[in-house]
Amino acid sequence: MTDLSHGKTYPPSPEWQARAWVNPQTSQEMYDASVADPELFWDEHGQRIDWFKPYTRVKNTSFAPGAVSIRWYEDGVTNAAYNCIDRHLETRGDQVAIIWEGDDPSESKHITYQELHDEVCRFANVLRNRNVSKGDRVTIYMPMIPEAAYAMLACARLGAVHSVVFGGFSPDSLAGRIEDCGSRVVITADEGLRGGRKVALKANVDAAIDRLPPGVDVDHVIVVRRTGANVAMDPLRDVWYDAAREMVTAECPCAHVDAEHPLFILYTSGSTGKPKGVLHTTAGYLVYTSITHKYVFDYHDGDIYWCTADVGWVTGHSYILYGPLTNGATTLMFEGVPNYPDMSRFWQVIDKHKVNTFYTAPTALRSLMQAGDAPVKATSRASLRLLGSVGEPINPEAWEWYHRVVGDNRCPIVDTWWQTETGGVLISPLPGATTLKPGSATLPLFGVRPELVDADGKVLEGAAEGNLVIADSWPGQMRTVYGDHQRFMDTYFATYPGKYFSGDGCRRDADGYYWITGRVDDVINVSGHRMGTAEVESALVAHASVSEAAVVGYPHDIKGQGIYAYVTLMSGVEPTETLRKELVGWVRQEIGPIATPDLIQFAPNLPKTRSGKIMRRILRKIAEDDFGALGDTSTLSDPAVVDELVNNRQNKR
Ligand code: PRX
Repeated sequence: MTDLSHGKTYPPSPEWQARAWVNPQTSQEMYDASVADPELFWDEHGQRIDWFKPYTRVKNTSFAPGAVSIRWYEDGVTNAAYNCIDRHLETRGDQVAIIWEGDDPSESKHITYQELHDEVCRFANVLRNRNVSKGDRVTIYMPMIPEAAYAMLACARLGAVHSVVFGGFSPDSLAGRIEDCGSRVVITADEGLRGGRKVALKANVDAAIDRLPPGVDVDHVIVVRRTGANVAMDPLRDVWYDAAREMVTAECPCAHVDAEHPLFILYTSGSTGKPKGVLHTTAGYLVYTSITHKYVFDYHDGDIYWCTADVGWVTGHSYILYGPLTNGATTLMFEGVPNYPDMSRFWQVIDKHKVNTFYTAPTALRSLMQAGDAPVKATSRASLRLLGSVGEPINPEAWEWYHRVVGDNRCPIVDTWWQTETGGVLISPLPGATTLKPGSATLPLFGVRPELVDADGKVLEGAAEGNLVIADSWPGQMRTVYGDHQRFMDTYFATYPGKYFSGDGCRRDADGYYWITGRVDDVINVSGHRMGTAEVESALVAHASVSEAAVVGYPHDIKGQGIYAYVTLMSGVEPTETLRKELVGWVRQEIGPIATPDLIQFAPNLPKTRSGKIMRRILRKIAEDDFGALGDTSTLSDPAVVDELVNNRQNKR
């Protein structure tokens, strides 16, 4: 078993213990109470949100094989936008809710809770005028501008269900998501702006709609003006948001929705098939994102909090918008990228807005680390108090750099483990309570019961390595795969019946600390973005020259994992550099730039078992440059294939 720590530990400082909501002792007491009596614990925290009608039942959940059902606070009635906005107006109307920092450093905006209210109401009225009502799905394909937040909260206000699609996805991917949830309304912008480069969002929406099968219709496309580009507008279908906004008032009532009313769908990749529509509902999700935002980031009134994610991912949903706004926080939303106009941008933004808490992904840190310490040291960062990491394992080297250089040895780091499916953080340090070990997500949060199991499902005790499962429900958990509850049960509850299976491998050390080792299924994590290898494979085989493809991840210094594709060509097709480039471009066009293969190896044959199954274990080892560990190849139908692959391996070290 590899020792991932460097043996170093960082106990919470006396100042942190004094300041934080919980210290080592109180956090332990709170955790023990939360798992001893979850009903009582989550009843108490059900008060974190306001209810139009209070609930009487806290938890009604079952992980039973074939009958998985997850319901929290089920007879309560509430509204997410009300909790994020309206209830704060009396005390915080003039407080800044969202600080928006544009791609261009000269552009920023401060939006108060009152302004947020007015803008969300206007957006909701524009949607209402286009017949959007409770339960309707609305697809949002937007850059990181305040209108993305207005649009999401406007849906919540009406009880409509938003499905945000990351702006880096291709028209094909967007079309698949529009079709799957049957959105009749799409919200987009003329163009996005990132790192000085324009992204043709409206043109992509047009292309996506053109690709929808007969009978699937989008009635309205609402277009926010961002760059002022001259884009095609269909007069019957498309409307400029700024024009529509002028026609409506800044008042719009909140729909009263059941606790379990769907709040949003977010598509995520799995090991098989097309992306799944992860469905989150209203009350449990808000309670969970709000409690975790409060304790993990030790949020206090007046703090300036910045999560660098895009709202196209779950981190943006839970920890830019819903968690912070439920808590009445000031949350920063950043349109740009870490290296534009230069490598100091993150740290400049921290100084400009006096950011106290900064939450980002290891991949960003690793790329910034490569530029050395100078771009960091050129800034003060005196306002920083707490740092966070999310999306993939953070290697101890990046952790130490983050701690020493970015945080000047002063700021604890919360390494937060969670997933699109979990809605919020499940395993993480608490800054005033937990002794940190670089590279470990440390301990479970309140109410969370992780277990490690072996391949047969046997629960492992003490220090051990196995597959990470969660033994009981928590309020932020996804409720179903949109339109396919069977798939939900099969994906998460069938491998280890009665438990939620995360798909991650994990080690637990003698102190009970959790060390996530990465996915154990055919999902890879590229720059903190989740990608199903099957999706990349099906894009590749859709190309006329490709007969077969197998995709695996391999260690990549910056991205964490890179995409390695083994491609068998149709007979008679020559493996050329031009074709290699063409295939890379093809996958970008089919899925989007985040799926760009890093390496393509033309392989006349792939290693298969006698029954014809591709042996991915071997392909992974070759891609990892780990030839000594190829293991048993005797079950291959043609063992010579492996030598050929090894000899032609791409990035040889
Ligand atoms: O493998 C884990 C990894 O990211 C996966 C979830 O990806 P996604 O649903 O896109 O959500 C990312 C943001 C929450 C997990 O199965 N992962 C996430 N956070 C960590 C992590 N791996 C190690 N350490 C983390 N802190």
